[in-house]
Amino acid sequence: MHDQPGPVTVGVDGSDESLTAVEWAADEARLRHAPLRIVHVFTLPMLYAPLGPPLLGSELDSLRETSDQIARTAERRAQSRAPELPVETTVLDGAPIPVLLQQAAHASLMVVASRGIGAVGRLLVGSTGVELAARAPCPVVVVRGRPHKAQRIVVGVDGSDPSLTALAYAFDEAALRGAELTAVHAVEDATATADPALTEAIERHGRRFPDVPVDLVTVPAHPAEALINASAAADLLIVGSRGRGGFRGLLLGSVSQAVLHHADCPVAVRR
Ligand SMILES: Nc1ncnc2c1ncn2[C@@H]1O[C@H](COP(=O)(O)OP(=O)(O)OP(=O)(O)O)[C@@H](O)[C@H]1O
Ligand SMILES: [Mg+2]
Repeated sequence: MHDQPGPVTVGVDGSDESLTAVEWAADEARLRHAPLRIVHVFTLPMLYAPLGPPLLGSELDSLRETSDQIARTAERRAQSRAPELPVETTVLDGAPIPVLLQQAAHASLMVVASRGIGAVGRLLVGSTGVELAARAPCPVVVVRGRPHKAQRIVVGVDGSDPSLTALAYAFDEAALRGAELTAVHAVEDATATADPALTEAIERHGRRFPDVPVDLVTVPAHPAEALINASAAADLLIVGSRGRGGFRGLLLGSVSQAVLHHADCPVAVRR
């Protein structure tokens, strides 16, 4: 008997963006034969304004009612997107990032929107997605850009172990979706040829997934620029959480951070 995969878990905050993330997560759960788990985190305003007047019981009730409505709206959106999909919806108390990190421990995939109602106008990406991508034990998808364009998945590969893990994940995703896969390797030197280790890794996965059309393109550009450009024609951009460089203590490399802020399609970060 197969083990049931962990749920695809999506965080919602009442924003339109988070409802788009719910639809993305519902599609993904259906493809993976995984249940969908919708989580709304209820944060008491007292936590942020401890010196304000105490909340009246009736005010608290109305805040809780709003939270329940956010969760129910998200659930209805998932059900109309994927009527057969098992969906579990829950409202949990606490601060969003720690609660979602706890949820990620049991999830096969964590999905959030690139920004929500808390986003300051100037911020392109909410802190939740970046924090989760840096720290969650499971892959994290930040839904952004226009979904469903191209039946194409793009993966960034620099030859590092995390990028090769991202490559394996990208083959899985492309096979699930019947999509084409483009592996982008950005190089500083315009005369560089494809890294033999990458070619070998792609051939090895290609034998596992003979039906996935795959292309390795070597692009003379900064990696973030190459990946952001490629994202315009992709349904999903996949990167590793780290690459070849950086400080040992860094949780999320600069290329991953840049694509989380600027890509034109949903971004998956795999560690
Ligand atoms: N040259 C590249 N070509 C294609 N993809 C890349 C390249 N460099 C990084 N990436 C992608 O970005 C992911 C994260 O790497 P990133 O460069 O952000 O981290 P890092 O090398 O550890 O730190 P930093 O480069 O910020 O010092 C990689 O796993 C890979 O998916
Ligand atoms: Mg790097």
